[in-house]
Amino acid sequence: MKVTVVGAGAVGASCAEYIAIKNFASEVVLLDIKEGFAEGKAMDLMQTASLNGFDTKITGVTNDYSKTAGSDICVITSGIPRKPGMTREELIGINAGIVKDVSSNLVKNSPKTIIIVVSNPMDTMAYLVHKTSGLAKNKIIGMGGALDSARFKYRLAEALDAPISDVDGMVIGGHSDTGMVPLTRLASRNSVPVSKFISEERLNQVMEDTKVGGATLTKLLGTSAWYAPGAAVSALVQSIACDQKKMFPCSVMLDGEYGMKDICIGAPVILGRNGIEKIVELELNDAEKENMKESAEGVRSVNDLLEL
Ligand code: LAC
Repeated sequence: MKVTVVGAGAVGASCAEYIAIKNFASEVVLLDIKEGFAEGKAMDLMQTASLNGFDTKITGVTNDYSKTAGSDICVITSGIPRKPGMTREELIGINAGIVKDVSSNLVKNSPKTIIIVVSNPMDTMAYLVHKTSGLAKNKIIGMGGALDSARFKYRLAEALDAPISDVDGMVIGGHSDTGMVPLTRLASRNSVPVSKFISEERLNQVMEDTKVGGATLTKLLGTSAWYAPGAAVSALVQSIACDQKKMFPCSVMLDGEYGMKDICIGAPVILGRNGIEKIVELELNDAEKENMKESAEGVRSVNDLLEL
């Protein structure tokens, strides 16, 4: 199993680290445009191998896509990250050109690859890869919902004063401060609805804190977060690589599901050897449907800025 991660910044390096540490991939190639940068990150990570107990071989390359040839899975993290006060949508001007270029280089060298898109505005970048790469739709996956759901679970555990392993929950919709749809109705503690334990007001606070999860970190860190994004990517990569068929909300091209077409937006999917094995259609209530509709309008307004 060969995995390429494009972009050796904080998010890309975290992806490589978490993938390696789980020890299921034979090889991870880290690629960056900055001379020597990916090589340095790869070497540093390889020097953790004997300490952390993994055998995954991590190599770094400067913009040489021939070294990515034959990758089973490619992760795109390239582009500029958010600065405090910026929305993910504001990055489109620069990131669209980068993501289009990167995905075309990846597919040229690994025509059978599965692509995971992380660069923001993520739903629109996933849509762009669908429109320009020529890959089948089950092979393009936007990483947002897995991260947002992890942040949701963190906030739920905090509100419930419970260990995170006790709580479950999912965030669907667009990966944006206003577009996320945390499914509070379905969130549970050991299968008991969380509304049994906390007030509606507290639950609304959890929902709001979840939606601005990325922005909160950007403000604290001065740039966008990397540990949880890297961990979320590694979970998706592992489900595909090990054919685990786990369910994650991912940005997926819809073709009638959830009453939408020609849009990439977060919905639960089963991830296995073929990438997206299945899109899971949940029965949403009227309020959730309305939130999804508004979320989709937001994503479409960003998609409209693309020059396809
Ligand atoms: C975040 C970025 C990765 O939410 O979109 O932290």
